[in-house]
Amino acid sequence: MNKKTNNDVNFLQLKRDIRIHAIEIAKNKKVLNLFSGENVLWNGIVEDIDNFDIKSYDGKNIKGDAKKVIRSLNLSNYGIIDIDCYGSSFEYLDFLINNEYKGVILITDIQIMPQYRSMNLNLLKFSGISNMYKKCPILFSKFKNDYLFNYLYEKNIREIFGIVGKKCYFCIDLQ
Ligand SMILES: C[S@@+](CC[C@H](N)C(=O)[O-])C[C@H]1O[C@@H](n2cnc3c(N)ncnc32)[C@H](O)[C@@H]1O
Repeated sequence: MNKKTNNDVNFLQLKRDIRIHAIEIAKNKKVLNLFSGENVLWNGIVEDIDNFDIKSYDGKNIKGDAKKVIRSLNLSNYGIIDIDCYGSSFEYLDFLINNEYKGVILITDIQIMPQYRSMNLNLLKFSGISNMYKKCPILFSKFKNDYLFNYLYEKNIREIFGIVGKKCYFCIDLQ
């Protein structure tokens, strides 16, 4: 396991497969990799597949904070946006959807210990339960993925590619 980037070996292959799927389906094969870390995922894919172009950022190296980067670029230049973040991906996903991004989005959504008030409150607000969650996180934290899916459904997204469990890794086609 690569400790620096927290790429759990059990999920590494799955995360790679989802990215390869994204390359296959994307009409524009230019990738914006917002959370590159050690770039374990894409480095491996670069060795296996050619014919795509990747631009990577990593906040810890001050090369670019994803929150600023996503707002500073012309996103329509990119056919794939990779949000392999720690914690909730919601702010990034919501930004892309609100800005009518037309491409493929790669999502990692792992909300660690949601029973300790670590869930994304804006996502919960969308489902109308942020106040209840604040008062009683233990009751609502079990359904963390449901709030994300409720959001996707309300945004007319009916299909995702990938796996869903305690850790969510999936890809959304908005082309
Ligand atoms: C789950 S890891 C990404 C792993 C990476 N995709 C790989 O293949 O190795 C998340 C990475 O995002 C970086 N990071 C944390 N906050 C960030 C931010 N605001 N903007 C960009 N990168 C950030 C972390 O340092 C960490 O390396």
